[in-house]
Amino acid sequence: MQKLQKMQNEEAGDSMSTNPFTPTFGIVPAHMAGREDVIGELLRALDNGVGDPNLVTIVSGARGTGKTALLSYVADEAAAHGWIAVNVSALPGMLDEIVQQTKKRAGHLIESDDAVRISSIHLGNIAEVTFQEQNAEAATWRIRMEDLLDELAKTNTGLLITIDEVREDLDEMIQVASAMQHFLRERRNIALFMAGLPTHVSALLQNKSVSFLRRANYHDLGTVEDFEVAQALTKTIEGAGRSIDEEALKRAVASIGGFPYMLQLVGYRAWEASPDSSFLSIADVDAGISHARIDMRRKIFDTTFKELSKGDVRFLAAMLEDEGASELADIARRMGKKSNYASEYKRRLIEQGVIADRGQGLVRIEIPLFKDYLKERLS
Ligand SMILES: Nc1ncnc2c1ncn2[C@@H]1O[C@H](COP(=O)(O)OP(=O)(O)OP(=O)(O)O)[C@@H](O)[C@H]1O
Ligand SMILES: [Mg+2]
Repeated sequence: MQKLQKMQNEEAGDSMSTNPFTPTFGIVPAHMAGREDVIGELLRALDNGVGDPNLVTIVSGARGTGKTALLSYVADEAAAHGWIAVNVSALPGMLDEIVQQTKKRAGHLIESDDAVRISSIHLGNIAEVTFQEQNAEAATWRIRMEDLLDELAKTNTGLLITIDEVREDLDEMIQVASAMQHFLRERRNIALFMAGLPTHVSALLQNKSVSFLRRANYHDLGTVEDFEVAQALTKTIEGAGRSIDEEALKRAVASIGGFPYMLQLVGYRAWEASPDSSFLSIADVDAGISHARIDMRRKIFDTTFKELSKGDVRFLAAMLEDEGASELADIARRMGKKSNYASEYKRRLIEQGVIADRGQGLVRIEIPLFKDYLKERLS
């Protein structure tokens, strides 16, 4: 299979194929590492349709864990299965954007309600013609959406709305959530998949006006397993006509620590090290890893670090001496504080996606590379 692909590349006179890695935020990778469970669950929900409890799902995860890629992937799959999928970010104007995108994507299915009609004509020196849009302004968002959903229902078409970068402080977020509750009660064919940073997701879920969201299906995107990283690397490389040395693959996997963005960085940089060769060598991967570490620092860790409070940093500093997970009691002792003081920072850092709760009083720095970064920065 691999041979065949290589032959085809050579035949096309294409000894150097394009780098298949996508170290760009928001891009669906050539091969998703892991995430099979959550993807399967979301696609099944769409398949089952009305009544499935996962039709409203909220996904949280630290920067670069793949929230946007996941939403895009699922939306593309949904569209390929006949759903109308609209994708927005939680920004002012989002409600209108949802309406416009729905109309655009479902243009072939719905009758236009945009037909303008002339509301008045004044004939003077200059002919002045005023057009009036039917019902667009007057109706509430919920009613405008109901009209669209009624149209879609005629062809049995479902509507998937994805909202990325959810925020608790956007009034339109609350409006979507509350309308959604009505749509589901009316048994309309609609789904809402949302994603955001853990802090914003948890703040949103605490908002009393959307208590309905607390019952939504919830996923926390952590790191992916090493074997999944290895699979995705191999498939991406072989899919683009090259192969990878076994030891080189092991090193790449170890450096990635299950972090999707790092997977793309290491893959991309290692590929670039000697793009004309038919395989990625150990030297290529080593060079790739050191470049990738610098990219990670600049694009993720510096930003994450800047967002930490002094107390957050003291808490993290108290974790660094432990090999794996740390005990909350040890952290508190090293900070010279009571456990309940330390618990407050534990909660904050979990919400920021920096540490993860391992149960039984244990916490762990979620991104292994971030631990190394902290060690360097705080020493
Ligand atoms: N499951 C995955 N396997 C491999 N690569 C992935 C996976 N998910 C995402 N990526 C890659 O990781 C990078 C980050 O993905 P994405 O932009 O979706 O992260 P994010 O969680 O939305 O980050 P942010 O919080 O900054 O918006 C992208 O380059 C993307 O191609
Ligand atoms: Mg994103």
